[in-house]
Amino acid sequence: HPVHDEPLRGRRVVVTAGGTREALDPVRFLGNRSSGRQGIALARAARQAGADVHLILGTLETEPPASDEGISLEHIESAQQLGAAVAEASAECDMLIMAAAVADFRPLTVGESKIKKTDDGQDPTITLTRNPDILAETVAARSRTGKGPTVIVGFAAETGDAEHDPVDLAGQKLQRKGCDLLVLNQVGTDLVFGREDTEVHILASQQSQQVLGAEPLTVAGSKTRAAQAVVAQASRLL
Ligand code: C5P
Repeated sequence: HPVHDEPLRGRRVVVTAGGTREALDPVRFLGNRSSGRQGIALARAARQAGADVHLILGTLETEPPASDEGISLEHIESAQQLGAAVAEASAECDMLIMAAAVADFRPLTVGESKIKKTDDGQDPTITLTRNPDILAETVAARSRTGKGPTVIVGFAAETGDAEHDPVDLAGQKLQRKGCDLLVLNQVGTDLVFGREDTEVHILASQQSQQVLGAEPLTVAGSKTRAAQAVVAQASRLL
């Protein structure tokens, strides 16, 4: 292969994909409908670009990459496990792509035994607590230590409303999170979740705009196409 076909040759890329499960008791959990397709497509796009790829997988509604695809796999369940896996893997990587749908909340306590129906007919109450924001923490750790991924890519699913344009909301999220690129999935109709095709807007931080320009890049089509565009933009920041 000519070198320009493999812009990520010799680079290490960490991708997170899928959903998380937050245990309620030994048999029950809170989860989400992330299929993992977009994250897996990103891992494949990075591999195709020549990178050494580590894929951290939560819950999936699709097949993970096969062992002969040359992508190293790690399975996690909860947001806290994902946080630990990202902290470890991102210490030594050039690019982190956080495509996983991370639970914002988890049950405050996890029952040691199965939660039982009570005889008095009372409805049980589940108290939730905030999960750490892994993306924001990775960005903060990089600023604090000067180490970590050169390029950090976050994702956002926004519907927008009458007063708020989803792209504006995503721009605010990009600033809040402090990542270098933010990929906006416009959700609300029957778009995105579990689907093969998608439409994404790739937004660049102020600093990244010096390389990529100020205008968000919009890509419509397959999740593979969207993934290739995200990887191409992120590669230009290395
Ligand atoms: O704030 P919001 O959940 O919309 O942000 C989405 C982005 O933040 C995604 O890249 C997701 O992987 C990441 N995230 C995270 N830790 C959380 C929640 C979201 O890293 N607890």
